[in-house]
Amino acid sequence: MSQFDEGVRREGSACLKWDERKAVFGRGDVIPLWVADMDFAAPEPVLKALEARVRHGAFGYSGSDPRDVDAVVGWMKRRHGVDVPRDAVLFSPGVVDSLRVAVAAVTKPGDSVVVQTPVYGPFYGAVEAAGCVVRRNPLLNTPDGWMMDFSDLEAAFREGARAILLCSPHNPVGRVWTRAELERVSALARHWGAVIIVDEIHADLEMPGFKNTSILSVDPDAMAFVSATKTFNLAALRHSSALIPNPDRRKAFQDEFNRRGIGGTNLFGALAQRTAYNEGEPWLDELLGYLDGTRRFVEGFLAQRLPMIRPSRLMGTYLMWLDMRALKLGQDELCRFLIEKAGLGMTNGAFFGPEGTGFMRLNIATPRRYVEQAMEQLEKAVKAL
Ligand SMILES: Cc1ncc(COP(=O)(O)O)c(C=O)c1O
Repeated sequence: MSQFDEGVRREGSACLKWDERKAVFGRGDVIPLWVADMDFAAPEPVLKALEARVRHGAFGYSGSDPRDVDAVVGWMKRRHGVDVPRDAVLFSPGVVDSLRVAVAAVTKPGDSVVVQTPVYGPFYGAVEAAGCVVRRNPLLNTPDGWMMDFSDLEAAFREGARAILLCSPHNPVGRVWTRAELERVSALARHWGAVIIVDEIHADLEMPGFKNTSILSVDPDAMAFVSATKTFNLAALRHSSALIPNPDRRKAFQDEFNRRGIGGTNLFGALAQRTAYNEGEPWLDELLGYLDGTRRFVEGFLAQRLPMIRPSRLMGTYLMWLDMRALKLGQDELCRFLIEKAGLGMTNGAFFGPEGTGFMRLNIATPRRYVEQAMEQLEKAVKAL
């Protein structure tokens, strides 16, 4: 029995994943396996720190606390082996906000920006909101897993792409990029004068056997965005970190940030992040083992009972990318089938771009019994097709 088997009952807590099922899927009773958060309580030390701060009682404007920077720097060193200079650290409400600011800060309207598709939907929005053009660099689905297409990437830079928005680890395909792969991206970007902007929100969620490489240990001129919100289930507290060692790029980011009037840290978000980074490691290590167990269960179930549905190897994130093309359903039909016949609320592959057609994303960060039930329901529905 694991502490994660229990989970938290989230219905009625204004929870997007559970309480908005009817609005999103047209049915309030699907098993919710979609939006990327977890059905687990945050680590006990985080709950205690928040409780104590609530009891303090005064919630007026807060200033900066150097311990918040220490916590991020310490975390990046311990978990990712990278020395992040203290002055490289800025705080932002969310990683998506930061991506939007970063793209606007280093491009001009009309520039093209590379995204490696299929990819987390808001990447497209971040490029378009800056008045830029998405230059797709589709990932290659090979027998050895998902790979970057470096010759196409070089072509994109040669054609003038100003920046690349990297997702590392990659949502939705679950790849943890190797150091060698990131070095190749860095060498190409450097050669062609493009800026590397990296979303590392899933960096701490490494499955056993896979090690995330922070882009900053490869390329100190990159702009990296990290957060404790995925790792420790704190998304609604709205806090994240921007790590930008290059002073010119940091200033451009900060100026754009200020220009938009985004600002002020969330007291509870900052405290939760600091406490999670400082005291959450044992919890995280147990979580990763639990998620890996669920990952193995899903892989085993599909291999034995639904071999036509093929999961990508999950190296990082808790989001499994399922290839359902063999079911031979159109994308809308596939979504309807999963909702109506299987009773499952997964993320539509099309959210990640047209390259996601025929795929669905399964969030396994929930007590395993829900995933077991989901697999049983899926099997029954597929067998009746
Ligand atoms: C790759 C990626 N980036 C960013 C986010 C959202 O980050 P935030 O809530 O900090 O904006 C998510 C959430 O699913 C994500 O998967």
